[in-house]
Amino acid sequence: MENIQSYVNQHKDRFLSELIELLKIPSISADSAYKKDVLSTAEAVKTQLEAAGCDLVEICETNGYPIVYGEKIIDKNLPTVLVYGHYDVQPPDPLELWTSPPFEPVIKPTELHPEGAIFARGACDDKGQMYMHVKAMEFMTNTNQLPCNVKFMIEGEEEVGSENLGDFVKANHEKLKNDVILISDTGMIAKDVPSITTGLRGLSYVEVEVTGPNRDLHSGLYGGAVANPINVLTKMIASLHDDNNHITIPGFYDKVEELSKEERAQMAKAPFSLENYKKALDIDAVYGEEGYTTNERNSIRPTLDVNGIWGGYIGEGAKTVIASKAYAKISMRLVPNQDWKEITDLFKSHFESIAPAGVKVKVTPHHGGQGYVTPIDSIGYQAASKAYSDTFGKTPIPQRSGGSIPIVALFEQELKSKTILMGFGLDSDAIHSPNEHFGVWNYLKGIETIPLFYKYFTELSK
Ligand code: BES
Ligand code: MN
Ligand code: MN
Repeated sequence: MENIQSYVNQHKDRFLSELIELLKIPSISADSAYKKDVLSTAEAVKTQLEAAGCDLVEICETNGYPIVYGEKIIDKNLPTVLVYGHYDVQPPDPLELWTSPPFEPVIKPTELHPEGAIFARGACDDKGQMYMHVKAMEFMTNTNQLPCNVKFMIEGEEEVGSENLGDFVKANHEKLKNDVILISDTGMIAKDVPSITTGLRGLSYVEVEVTGPNRDLHSGLYGGAVANPINVLTKMIASLHDDNNHITIPGFYDKVEELSKEERAQMAKAPFSLENYKKALDIDAVYGEEGYTTNERNSIRPTLDVNGIWGGYIGEGAKTVIASKAYAKISMRLVPNQDWKEITDLFKSHFESIAPAGVKVKVTPHHGGQGYVTPIDSIGYQAASKAYSDTFGKTPIPQRSGGSIPIVALFEQELKSKTILMGFGLDSDAIHSPNEHFGVWNYLKGIETIPLFYKYFTELSK
């Protein structure tokens, strides 16, 4: 494409300062105290889509946070790319672990990003990656090189399960009609190892509550004589994995697809250093399901993890008490074919069945979604592959990711089109963690690569 590199070079300072403005708004969807900020972020996205050349931009109300929809239809006979992204972010806590405040973005160099990385909540997930698409659009419209139709659908509830987006998609088949869905909300293997995400895991997220006695008790007067909900809960949780770290819920693995030897050998070819992996996390060993490699454990295998656990006394000093209740939040990452509702039911009945007499157990499902795999012989994948090859000088590697974007499976089901996951983040970007950042190089490389996807997708669709 003509002068994309020089355009990016010429405008990069503005591309960065505009993103920084967006990152200053704390659009935390999980926390209702930030409702105003989430709403004003939607307005900011609308303004930017208009400035980038969309002919129509709307704030579409839902029962939750609005969806920003934008489009530029140049010719009904040309293909249509639907871009999806999210403008909401995860809560930033624990705040004290940030080296600079999460909503006061700064550009600082890191070992991996000597040219600088933008530090802020949402820098990579997903404001930075979503905004690459807005700037790619700006380039294409400003230089008269938009080769096809574009639609944008940017939501504000991804980090809380996209509950209202499903209804919006179901009710708007015609409006959202497209030939391919394009998302940058994942990562790549390394800066010099471009990759395209071909799979996402599904998710089932539940909360459990164990209730023992009707009030907190003196741990001397009652200890040993009544069930302690925290003791019981931790024992129940521990029993969910066996000695080989297989999950013990009956039926859990029934629909899990076993990859062939060839497929696993192919996966193992992706560059990976276990030593560097351990070093980056400061751990002396990895841990996981027997019989699988680290990269298999975090992509093609389902998991069960406690995300939070609480109960009893956690204040200063010691308080001798047996709490009345104990709680945990548990996520299960699922692989394609496992149905998240079925798995949620299996979890619920198993967890209830292992509760000992003397406690009551309540399981509350939160949210979930199906896993996703996309083929590498589709026009969309081929177009993405050519785009990366041009800007990275290397053919990208297909890679299944361990993360989840539950709405992607629903897109395919409702809109009947494939999703291409062109992520430019790195695992070390610390998404959802303190000090989230996004390399300036990655950000600009994304802006450079995206227009080429449009070009090749349009050419290959002819
Ligand atoms: N962008 C992430 C998902 C992701 C990150 C996929 C990196 C692959 C690589 C997304 O915003 C996210 O965090 N999803 C949640 C699920 C959601 C229902 C809260 C997740 O994976 O925990
Ligand atoms: Mn995301
Ligand atoms: Mn996220």
